[in-house]
Amino acid sequence: MIIKSADFVKSATRPANYPPGDFKEVAFAGRSNVGKSSLINVLVNRRGLVRTSSTPGRTQLLNFFDINGEFYLVDLPGYGFAKVPLAVKKQWGPMVRTYLEGRENLRALLLLFDIRRVPQQEEIQLLDWLEELQVPTIPIITKVDKITRSRRERQILPILEATGLPRDAFTLFSALTREGRDEIWERIDAALDD
Ligand code: GTP
Ligand code: MG
Repeated sequence: MIIKSADFVKSATRPANYPPGDFKEVAFAGRSNVGKSSLINVLVNRRGLVRTSSTPGRTQLLNFFDINGEFYLVDLPGYGFAKVPLAVKKQWGPMVRTYLEGRENLRALLLLFDIRRVPQQEEIQLLDWLEELQVPTIPIITKVDKITRSRRERQILPILEATGLPRDAFTLFSALTREGRDEIWERIDAALDD
């Protein structure tokens, strides 16, 4: 994928505020702080297109980005951060569920897992919804630079177990080394071609 342009379009919480579904799109979901925004920045080669933060729970809206005037990338709000107010936490499920149910131009969802964490209820919930709604899923294991190569395969066993997905379903990624970037673009391209 050659990136000619990458522009923030708008933020939204509900369908009336989404940009028109005139382009195909893929979305990014995962726990707060898992690295969704960092992944998007690496994919589009723009360090600061999407705000990243060491304070989890920064992104509490759906953020739409126009790539090359051809398709959208959508940064979904993170979940699972203890310090987020309860009222905000309660919005996450309906906000994401509504998006997944109704967004007809959505072609795939990239679901991110931190290599150091065991998936929790929200990840499993999301996987169930994706299956129910037949949204193709691209599972990514992020922050692989945090674990030495020799320990990686052992480290991801709890992720395989909790999700029930096979090892070859996952692409390993690091925003630091950019490992996995090309493979993720190939998978996004394939999803957008459908
Ligand atoms: P929310 O918007 O809060 O849901 O978080 P997010 O999923 O968008 O995470 P974000 O991209 O903001 O990254 C969170 C923190 O993890 C930042 O400090 C990033 O620099 C760091 N980070 C993200 N990806 C990687 C990675 O692959 N390796 C390492 N070492 N750090 C990463
Ligand atoms: Mg973010």
